[in-house]
Amino acid sequence: MMTAEYALSHLNELVAPPMVEVSARLKENIKTTDEEEDVNRYLFILFVKDYIVNPNFDNSMCNTGAIEKFGTMPSLKGQLKEDEKQAVAEWLYDRYENTKF
Ligand code: HEM
Repeated sequence: MMTAEYALSHLNELVAPPMVEVSARLKENIKTTDEEEDVNRYLFILFVKDYIVNPNFDNSMCNTGAIEKFGTMPSLKGQLKEDEKQAVAEWLYDRYENTKF
């Protein structure tokens, strides 16, 4: 997993924000008043499945600095099947549970 220290010292080599950062940022932003974590996880997954096909500035939850540096991500439209989108979205949530960036 990429650490914040590593990312900062290799900024010029990065082509996208580190996945651990993306995951943490989305978890901060996609929150309901429901205390059940599975509701938040479900919304996170819905967002990711949509965003990777329709990435755009208005939908992005990235910080402005990241957008200025990288631009919005290229659309993965047509490149992933429905079950693959589901799998990658679940992975993005679950892989970085209890990790800090
Ligand atoms: C299956 C693979 C991928 C997944 C699941 C994924 C997921 C995401 C998500 C969910 C965000 C949005 C974060 C936010 O709104 O805060 C994001 C941002 C970004 N991704 Fe990806 N991504 C993938 C592949 C890629 C690839 C191949 C590139 C290009 C090299 C890329 C470049 C970027 C960049 C530059 C951003 C920041 C700007 C933006 O929010 O659009 N991603 N990614």
